[in-house]
Amino acid sequence: MTELQTRLIDLRARFDDALREARDAAAIDRVRVSYLGRSGEVTLLRRGIGQLPAPERPGAGQTINEAVAAMEAALADALAAVESQAFSEQLQSRIDVTFPPAPAQIGSIHPIRRVTEDLSAYFRRHGFAIVLGPEIEPEYYNFDALNIPADHPAREGFDSFWLTNTLLLRPHTSPMQIRTMEHHRPPVAVFVPGRCYRRDAVDARHLYQFTQVEGLLIDRGIHFGHLKGMLTGMCRELFGRDQQVRFRPSFFPFTEPSAEVDTTCPLCRGEGGSCRMCGGSGWIELGGSGMVHPNVLRNMEYDPEIYSGWAFGFGVERLALVRYDVDDIRRFYENDPAFLMQLA
Ligand code: PHE
Repeated sequence: MTELQTRLIDLRARFDDALREARDAAAIDRVRVSYLGRSGEVTLLRRGIGQLPAPERPGAGQTINEAVAAMEAALADALAAVESQAFSEQLQSRIDVTFPPAPAQIGSIHPIRRVTEDLSAYFRRHGFAIVLGPEIEPEYYNFDALNIPADHPAREGFDSFWLTNTLLLRPHTSPMQIRTMEHHRPPVAVFVPGRCYRRDAVDARHLYQFTQVEGLLIDRGIHFGHLKGMLTGMCRELFGRDQQVRFRPSFFPFTEPSAEVDTTCPLCRGEGGSCRMCGGSGWIELGGSGMVHPNVLRNMEYDPEIYSGWAFGFGVERLALVRYDVDDIRRFYENDPAFLMQLA
């Protein structure tokens, strides 16, 4: 036996001992490095070949190669063994399916949507169709057909965002009166919720974007009493049983007569005094209303001698401020979850 073979037998015995001790992939790799690595024991032995007499060198090289192949095979087996051990341990582990999970974060209906849907539900129950219209309108629908010609000062009051000379972001939902009459013969009964836009300076009660609800009812024999009845029912549903509504004379080019609508302040119940909600008047303003102007009916080829009707347009944010007793309209659009959760 050559000296090289003797040394390899001793080395292999120590290698096997070390490998038996190795419990994981990292430990196995440390064994590989210390024997077969760049400055490992076997590598050092291989460097010694050059010192041997020339005839012995090929045999020595082959002996070392065979030893290395056997050690590499042993390393691979050891690695496979620890991996399958780890896998079967993983299969043994149990998941506790009864462990309570972290509570899910559940969102809520936005207060503006809530009010809009409650109003829609009320009008739908009374036979109104819920219809939606475009937020960009030609001036024809927004003004001309509503009896507001180009030179009419009422156009100024709508502080509109114009997109072109003839297209604007609608400042009210009333264009849907026209779109409805354009496509339907009377009787018509529609309720129109939707976003509107005005060049208003933003403060606690004004936004440049808001939500309106529009109502339109046209048939034979419709009068102001029908409007008062519907709106009283609406306010009682929204704010409570004893709610009253009152009309104050007003002006809109598309209604005649026209009226502002108020309802009993739900906070002071009409007492007024130093009420912070209504400012002491005992009333909360809902918006505009009136009997559809004969010119509008005529524009749509509805005969004003036969048909009459009413319309109204209210701001939903204003209603929500009162319903939820919120002090600043901007809160509805900051979408602070803490605020929204309070109203959920
Ligand atoms: N469109 C009017 C506005 O926004 C409100 C209104 C609607 C008035 C319907 C009368 C009839 O100011």
